[in-house]
Amino acid sequence: MASAGEERKRRNELRRELIDKFPRDRSSLLPALHYLEETFSFLPDWGIEVLGWHLGVPPSEVYGAATSYTELSLSIPSHKTVIVCDGVACREKGAIQILEFLKEKNIDGVEIKTTDCAFMCSVAPAVSVGHTWYGRQVPDNSLAELIEG
Ligand code: FES
Repeated sequence: MASAGEERKRRNELRRELIDKFPRDRSSLLPALHYLEETFSFLPDWGIEVLGWHLGVPPSEVYGAATSYTELSLSIPSHKTVIVCDGVACREKGAIQILEFLKEKNIDGVEIKTTDCAFMCSVAPAVSVGHTWYGRQVPDNSLAELIEG
């Protein structure tokens, strides 16, 4: 558990990062939540509080948004998360076959999630492994090795 001084330092660092990266209005809520998720691999309570302060919205509203998206997590991950985009462009390029492949492979310690659109439609299908997105993925052993690596 962090000391009170460490906690204050951590909060102040995040405040500065949010001020540098995101305008202080509600339209920044989702991009900032994704930033927290990428930074911490989940959404810590204190990070949600700092984000609410930064955007001028109640933490309950930030929690509400955070729980609406499957790619966001409120708890420390005990596994590697793989997100397969199953939006329209990715489905047309093989996202369903990727999901079936990963289900058959059943790689230990991996949680598979889906998202509606990763905004990488031009390089569909898109897959995220450990918070890094990869385009033009195919359901073969190179994808399995990427996930296991
Ligand atoms: S539909 Fe998959 S990246 Fe847009």
